[in-house]
Amino acid sequence: MSQRIYINDNWSFTESFDEGFARGEEKAGLKEVRLPHTCAETPFNYFDENIYQMLCGYRRVLNVPEAWEGKRVFLVIEAAAHRSRVRLNGEVLAEHRCGYTAYKTELTGHLQPGENILAVEVDSRETLDQPPFGKVIDYMTYGGLYREVSLEITEQAFIEDVFVKPKVPDDVRLAEDEFSAVSFTGILNSEVKMSGDAGALYVRQRIMPYECGGAGRGEVLVDTGMAALSGCPVKGGAYELRVEVPDAQLWDVESPGLYTVRTELFEKVEGEHEDLISGNIICGWEVKDGKKGGTGKLFRLVDQKETTFGFRRSEFRADGYYLNGRKLKILGLNRHQCFPYAGYAMPASMQRLDADILKFELGLNAVRTSHYPCSRYFYERCDELGLLVFTEIPGWQNIGGEEWKKQALKNTEDMVLQYRNHPSVILWGVRINESQDDDALYEKTNAAARSLDPTRPTGGVRYIKNSHLLEDVYTYNDFSYEGTTLKGEPEKPSAGKNTWKGCVPKKTVTSDMEKPYLISEYNGHMFPTKPYDCEDHRTGHALRHAAVLDSAAAEADIAGSFGWCMFDYNTHLEFGSGDHICYHGVMDMFRNPKPAAAVYAAQQDTRPVLNITSSMDIGEHPAGIPGRIYIITNADEVRMYRNDELIRVYTHEDSAFKNMKNGPIEITDFIGERLKGEGFSGKQEEEIKYLLNHYARFGASNLPKKFLAKAAKLIAGKKLSMDRVYELYGKYIGSWGSRGSAWRFEAVKNGKIVKTVVKEAAADVHLEAVVDHTELIEKSSYDVAAVRISAYSQNGAELPYYMESVHARCEGPVSLIGPSCIQLRAGKGGTYVKSGGKAGHAALIIEHERCGELRIDFEVVV
Ligand code: GAL
Repeated sequence: MSQRIYINDNWSFTESFDEGFARGEEKAGLKEVRLPHTCAETPFNYFDENIYQMLCGYRRVLNVPEAWEGKRVFLVIEAAAHRSRVRLNGEVLAEHRCGYTAYKTELTGHLQPGENILAVEVDSRETLDQPPFGKVIDYMTYGGLYREVSLEITEQAFIEDVFVKPKVPDDVRLAEDEFSAVSFTGILNSEVKMSGDAGALYVRQRIMPYECGGAGRGEVLVDTGMAALSGCPVKGGAYELRVEVPDAQLWDVESPGLYTVRTELFEKVEGEHEDLISGNIICGWEVKDGKKGGTGKLFRLVDQKETTFGFRRSEFRADGYYLNGRKLKILGLNRHQCFPYAGYAMPASMQRLDADILKFELGLNAVRTSHYPCSRYFYERCDELGLLVFTEIPGWQNIGGEEWKKQALKNTEDMVLQYRNHPSVILWGVRINESQDDDALYEKTNAAARSLDPTRPTGGVRYIKNSHLLEDVYTYNDFSYEGTTLKGEPEKPSAGKNTWKGCVPKKTVTSDMEKPYLISEYNGHMFPTKPYDCEDHRTGHALRHAAVLDSAAAEADIAGSFGWCMFDYNTHLEFGSGDHICYHGVMDMFRNPKPAAAVYAAQQDTRPVLNITSSMDIGEHPAGIPGRIYIITNADEVRMYRNDELIRVYTHEDSAFKNMKNGPIEITDFIGERLKGEGFSGKQEEEIKYLLNHYARFGASNLPKKFLAKAAKLIAGKKLSMDRVYELYGKYIGSWGSRGSAWRFEAVKNGKIVKTVVKEAAADVHLEAVVDHTELIEKSSYDVAAVRISAYSQNGAELPYYMESVHARCEGPVSLIGPSCIQLRAGKGGTYVKSGGKAGHAALIIEHERCGELRIDFEVVV
């Protein structure tokens, strides 16, 4: 029976590889490391990308037990950035020229009994002639053996690959707004590649419900029984199997029904029933013409593979995207796979966490893995969550020479082969991101993707309009929006009207209106935003995201969009803000949200969202004029109070963003009914309220003519003096020279207050830390917990100008990734806690001179 053994521990690492190291010779400066490993921990910002560029090496002892005699042994490297060579006892056995795909090296025949030296030479220099290198790149490429490594020990006969092609019958489709599970008989077609003599082999498939984070468990829903492999149809070197799954549930964004198919390979054996106690021998029945027949026979299980799958119908059509027959607007962000300090090297839990954040905190239904394939753990979590994935080959703008192109084609093949079983993957990106047309190359990448996976369409991201469309979907980075139309004309306040053009219509971009169209990026460099930028800037960032979403929602034939991007990321010197960070995220590098994150979060219904884009502090705004302030919410209504007096109740009817589900709502009234008692007639009251609110939103230099005429009339009629205007403004809106006000906002859903936000000057600061999990479980390798630290006022308000540092220390068998002195930027920061191979109780203690101590307890399970 085949076996997988993870070998993520006990590696020696050198920053300078040489042949002696590969043969196991002593060398100064070796470090003991565990995988995933980054070849250089990087500072938060202001560092040179050369620090992770090197020819480094990893080696470990491989002990070969006698039990491996007669078996085949494979080494699986899930990712080594960027060119790597496998050496066994000094001999080169394989080379891989991509830092983002996995590869398998057969060690059989090269292993000696007992100790062997396995070494992996890893070249992380950006001068390599392979994708994505050759020109400048807007992200750091890091280096190292940064995903997991394992051994596969198989019999001579084994299952090489299982490609599942689940099919939903044509009449099964969800109606508009229907997410409930429908039950049907699904058909699972599989292409199974075997190695070994088919004549003596039998195959069986069993289907089970999928269990989160693992393989199928429990109840077997369907058991095909054993069938002679020689009797199965063969196509393209693979055996074709077919199973019916009664009472199947759909895989959908709302309820992602998942199954596991266990494909087993058996050999018929001679023997007595006592052999049954050996465990791998079972008594089975041959299946002929779909019926059990013959007498009981003895079979030995030689291999099994578990594959997760889901039944879904995913279609890009000329008029949009359809999942299970229902039109669905794709709402996504782009995600890089990097983390502060650790670069690319983070274990399963951190990959999974990003998918959780996208789904639950940002309320998205899709993600683009810009600009390369990610860890399999990320896709697995997307499968579990019902998060749609657009994944693509590595590359950024540049296309290299012939060798480079050959590698791009190989990367396409590897990507499709490695990820084609994931129900979450709906589209292959087979062009180098934002490259020019290259028909010869892209004909090949398209053909490769289509032949290895006839079930999914191809796309390829470009920034050029009307380019050659060899793909099935035109995927375009629409950076047309400059934000200017958002400002709105004071005389024609935009409320009630969509005055912006957040994206361009399909017909102006695509070369073929009959083919589907998708926006693959927007915003990003058009408006870099630091979490500690001034309030107007942060609000502008949020509004730009809303404007594009709103416009895309209005264009029925745009399948959806992926904003740039999920979080800020370290980048090369040619990009970013001079500190090697691109501040393009709706979250910071630790995944702390900026206001723009709330725009996305408000599109979902499961968590209450209430974000007021202003602190309501007059000193933050020029001339003390609050300007345009927005409520971002998914509530039915938001009640706004000043010092406990109700000013106004806002609903989404008040939003100028009419097309998206829950667009930001501008605060247009700071006064409410409070002018009563000031001695004005009803009409005058209305007019003065209009004047003051307009002044608050647009400022003195930007007042509409209508305003000036009204003001002149009131002043001329001696109903109002300028002094009185200032007095009223100070009393009801601004607080210049008077006591500060407290503004309270209550989000109401289904008649209940689900969230309250209070805006008043911060008088006190406290820290809170949110950790994603506190039980660190070592399965195939170490585990990491993400800790997000935030400073809040006495009311729980965010403190965007709080830049103090905190000190972090660990107790017990855990350590920190990154520095122990953690700088809060915009009142937010983060750190990562890593298990160290030993079980036990552990803790992270965060100390702050002013706020005292926070303690997070962990349990490490090994
Ligand atoms: C795009 C590119 C992304 C990122 C983005 C910034 O052109 O594809 O990788 O650089 O710009 O807005």
